[in-house]
Amino acid sequence: MKLLAFGASTSSTSINRQLANYAASQIAEAEVTDLDLRQFDLPIYSSDEEESKGIPSAARDFKSLIESHDGIVVSLAEHNGSYSAAFKNLYDWTSRIDVNVWADKPMLLLATSPGGRGGATVLAAAEATFSRMGADLKATFSLPSFYDNFDAGSGITDPELSARLQAAVQTMAG
Ligand SMILES: Cc1cc2nc3c(=O)[nH]c(=O)nc-3n(C[C@H](O)[C@H](O)[C@H](O)COP(=O)(O)O)c2cc1C
Repeated sequence: MKLLAFGASTSSTSINRQLANYAASQIAEAEVTDLDLRQFDLPIYSSDEEESKGIPSAARDFKSLIESHDGIVVSLAEHNGSYSAAFKNLYDWTSRIDVNVWADKPMLLLATSPGGRGGATVLAAAEATFSRMGADLKATFSLPSFYDNFDAGSGITDPELSARLQAAVQTMAG
């Protein structure tokens, strides 16, 4: 299974990118592409921009990456209760190519933040809408208080949270 793993963030130290890659690494025999959203350089969406210059190649590159993988592991950064602006912009542009953004791929949907809610608000927003944009949503998981519960070497340190992620990973692995 070829998996596309990314944090929906353009932070060079993204905790969501770390969580997405950790979760993907737990899926047996998966071949993981660690995607850095900073590689997609594109203007802020506007209909005027689209009419005058068309859809940026970066959005087409993102769409091609989704299509060339067998599944997606995404972890959402939460900014003021919603998506990071960088991810939302990429998502909006990509939806102009095809509303079936996620190309019917199986998805493990995650979120984490340094706070105690672990990005639960943005996770719920995506859970309610990603299926309509072509995600075959297999499981969701939110990791609260990232810096208390995650270790770069050993992964999720809290046993109960670790067990919950493993259950989500098993569901994704099918
Ligand atoms: C503009 C802004 C808004 C934020 N809003 C929230 C929020 O609503 N909820 C939350 O849990 N964390 C919030 N945070 C903290 C982020 O969760 C934190 O920066 C986290 O590291 C983002 O994930 P990333 O490292 O993958 O980019 C916010 C951070 C910024 C910069």
